[in-house]
Amino acid sequence: MYTSKVIDEFKNPRNVGEMEDATALGVVGGAECGDIMNMYLKIENDVIVDASFLTYGCAAAIATSSVATDMIKGKTIEEALKVTNKQVIEHLGGLPAQKIHCSVMAEESIKAAIDDYRANKAKAQ
Ligand code: FES
Repeated sequence: MYTSKVIDEFKNPRNVGEMEDATALGVVGGAECGDIMNMYLKIENDVIVDASFLTYGCAAAIATSSVATDMIKGKTIEEALKVTNKQVIEHLGGLPAQKIHCSVMAEESIKAAIDDYRANKAKAQ
């Protein structure tokens, strides 16, 4: 049911783990399955210099988190906001229909983390 790319990203996920010096955290939960995705970003001058994740979820959730963190590293926050779950799915060579919501969580967790960054920045001003 999964592509070889999904299985590889699940077995060898990139950017796993809490980030001690993260400047932003986005937490998203899957309403249907109860899974949780934590997205940690380190942002300097509106550029994402590092990204990591801690996901309590299925193989697709781990694989999409892995790809999403790789995709946004080095991007500005504006560029990262344009990353969609469809692009994440393309990188994975496809996902089964019942696993699309896992990729939506990846997109939403990026947005939630950037919202957190912006809220922290506004507070600091
Ligand atoms: Fe809910 Fe994958 S994140 S089943």
